[in-house]
Amino acid sequence: MAPTAPTMFAKFHSNGDEGAIDQEELSEEMKDLILSLPRERGWRTKYLYLFQGFWCQPAEIQAISTFQKHFQAKHSDVFVATVPKSGTTWLKALTFAIVNRQKHLTFSKSHPLLNSNPHDLVPFIEYTVYGKHDKVPDLSKIPEPRLFGTHIPFSSLPNSITKGSNCKIVYICRNPFDTFISSWCFVNKIKPPSLPTLMLEEAFDMFCNGVVGFGPFWNHMLGYWNESIERPNKVLFLKYEDMKEDPVFHLKKIAEFLGCSFSLEEESGGVIENIIDLCSFEKMKELEVNKSGTFARIFKNKFLFRKAEIGDFVNHLSPFMVEKLSKVMEEKLGGCGLSFRVNSQ
Ligand code: A3P
Repeated sequence: MAPTAPTMFAKFHSNGDEGAIDQEELSEEMKDLILSLPRERGWRTKYLYLFQGFWCQPAEIQAISTFQKHFQAKHSDVFVATVPKSGTTWLKALTFAIVNRQKHLTFSKSHPLLNSNPHDLVPFIEYTVYGKHDKVPDLSKIPEPRLFGTHIPFSSLPNSITKGSNCKIVYICRNPFDTFISSWCFVNKIKPPSLPTLMLEEAFDMFCNGVVGFGPFWNHMLGYWNESIERPNKVLFLKYEDMKEDPVFHLKKIAEFLGCSFSLEEESGGVIENIIDLCSFEKMKELEVNKSGTFARIFKNKFLFRKAEIGDFVNHLSPFMVEKLSKVMEEKLGGCGLSFRVNSQ
């Protein structure tokens, strides 16, 4: 029997704390490359490096390089691409449930989402799949459609994904105010004890300067946004706030985009509502696997579930900070047609 995705990837999980990854883990070639790159203070590693125009950690650079060199997309592949802290866990869960709803009935007590964290069911390219530098995984035996997750910007995805296959990309981002607060809270929970606490003001300046994992956030959004306009069958562009406001509409949109629309029977039988309930913040947060499990020995799953609110940033950012980030957004995203809702009305 072909291995299921979680079993298959278990052996590629990192065996160390990626937050404090030792450069010993890197190949000599990689060390040379990384040392030649511009660097800034990191969020959960000592430094972030500017690689192919975006900021990332040494272990990520190595994994992404291997991925770019070896990955062969299949027409049926689905990629869940996201800005970190924009609803990755949620979108992975929804995508998994939608795509596998014939195999795993959404009301079943043995549904994989009740026993596994979404990051184990839709593995990250840069942490899980290619997370071990000395191994190039054999992905050919994973049952189709293969589901993968990534934070890699569109411009750095290999050609076989962007041009050479009909695989699909579902993308989500979130208003940058909440994304920033979510990132800052998360990093201070998972950073290695050897690194000092990241103060709000310092993290905020880094974020506004674009120095944040896979950032600048505006380039990340624009890469997928422009592609979604040019090739709407290739990239589906979603926003966290819209998904929260009208999940039924967006689930139908995702299913249609992935070529597995809900039938009238499914709609009348409550399948969409079952999926929304199965993947809801309240439900997922209370699952044992999400209360006590660990992701790739990097962090505890419980840190993935904080408040899930729109507009929580008002409890953290001063009016001056809100004005500053608004100006950055206007300067970098103004005129592209992309806007965000920042409160829950
Ligand atoms: P907050 O920190 O604002 O609470 P990611 O999954 O990309 O790391 O994003 C994390 C954010 O998504 C967190 O936001 C988290 O609480 C929220 N989140 C996690 N699971 C969710 C779900 N099932 N539905 C909606 N939001 C969710």
